[in-house]
Amino acid sequence: MKRIGILTAGGDTPALNAAIHGAVARANQLRIEVFGLIKGFNCLFNPRVPHIHLNPLFLAIPELDPTKGGTLIGSSRDYVDPTKKDELDQITLRLQKLGIEGLIAIGGDGTLNGLQPLTERLPTVLAPKTIDNDLGLNYPNEPDEWTRIRDPHSHKYHYKRTATSAAFNLDHIVNYVTPGYATAVFVTAQGVERIRTTAESHRRIAIVEVMGRHSGYIALGTAYGQPDIILVPEYPLDLKLLVDRVRELYDLQKNVVIVCGEGMVDDQGVELGDESKSTDPAGNVVLSGAAEALRAKIMHELGDGYFQRYRRGSSAREAIFTRKVGHTQRGGRPILFDRFYAALLGSKAVDLLVEGRNNSVSVLQHNANQGFHVEGYDANRFRDRWGLIHARQMHPALYDPRLMKPSALGIEYLLPIFSGAIGYDDAEFMRRTQFDPGNLSQPYHSVNTDVNKRIHYLEPDHG
Ligand code: F6P
Repeated sequence: MKRIGILTAGGDTPALNAAIHGAVARANQLRIEVFGLIKGFNCLFNPRVPHIHLNPLFLAIPELDPTKGGTLIGSSRDYVDPTKKDELDQITLRLQKLGIEGLIAIGGDGTLNGLQPLTERLPTVLAPKTIDNDLGLNYPNEPDEWTRIRDPHSHKYHYKRTATSAAFNLDHIVNYVTPGYATAVFVTAQGVERIRTTAESHRRIAIVEVMGRHSGYIALGTAYGQPDIILVPEYPLDLKLLVDRVRELYDLQKNVVIVCGEGMVDDQGVELGDESKSTDPAGNVVLSGAAEALRAKIMHELGDGYFQRYRRGSSAREAIFTRKVGHTQRGGRPILFDRFYAALLGSKAVDLLVEGRNNSVSVLQHNANQGFHVEGYDANRFRDRWGLIHARQMHPALYDPRLMKPSALGIEYLLPIFSGAIGYDDAEFMRRTQFDPGNLSQPYHSVNTDVNKRIHYLEPDHG
């Protein structure tokens, strides 16, 4: 293989540049050229295929900084539609014209879902990334547990899990953790710590909403910030249990911090975030989010009198507040754990291509004997019998629904990821740069400005 393409797809994560860097470093050793395709799959729909050469003379370009968040080649949420054969033909032709003999997509479950049609035309592999930690399997036969039911009205299929007969063992997880997750948790745990002291001072109840879609891994890891209660999407809300616990804690310590995963569902299985739809002044639908819906429920249960009785606030509305950690958990400098393993996964993806393992995924495995190590895994083994990839939910055994915190097994799961996840250089970097006087006088210099100077395009046909 002489030249490969690489793209980053889906929502960005902090370790994308590290994954690209790992791939380029390995390609340099193997004397393979790497073209970075600009803005994910969007690039392939563009007849000019904007791209940059990431390793001229087999040296990584200086803009490729593995310690920087985001992705220097940009990302988008565009995917290839398997039913559009003409489009696929065009894409294949464009890549051939560029001399690209293999493709690495760095992405999550959505990216892997869309990869199959490409793998039938060009050797293509995936290096995983996602802050949600939802690309993987709790045990190898998990995809076989899906069934689908056709809706007689819409003719669409609904996918449902059947009961499992598999034993859950941490050593058997496929893709133990994905790059980006550790940094996201680093941010959410810090957020909780900071909210705590203000909740303490002002006798308030804080609800902190974290990302993760329908998977509770980020919420689970946020336990490192010592919230009082963690609510995950995998367990429907038990309002009575929650409110009783909130009362108990508030009586004792005059403040409560609750972490809630954005995909939380109520006891009917309805997403909390969807529940309180309202319209803004322009008439647009506004989704108020899981934390806001939860706040309304707790406000209703406790009532103003509860806070007035203790002279801790004049109303429930004043005492209970919400904060979304939001996109800060997806941005910025990746911590050491993410940088290191993202680079190994990127490097492994190059090896998979060179070994001819089309349609495979580089995965980060962990077991008691070997610790963390990377392997190749056939992409089809992530798919259900109809070929669909389902986002991994947190295994229920990692959470204690009575305590509303990680279970003993959940703690065992988290320890190998986070013990040592922060490097000395991470702390030193902050010390050196946060209050650098230059930050005050110099404008931000975006990597996009420099990368733009390197973009090449596919020459149009003059035939
Ligand atoms: O999948 C990553 C993620 O950050 C989710 O946790 C979150 O729900 C979603 O992406 C947000 O997407 P967007 O950036 O498009 O709003």
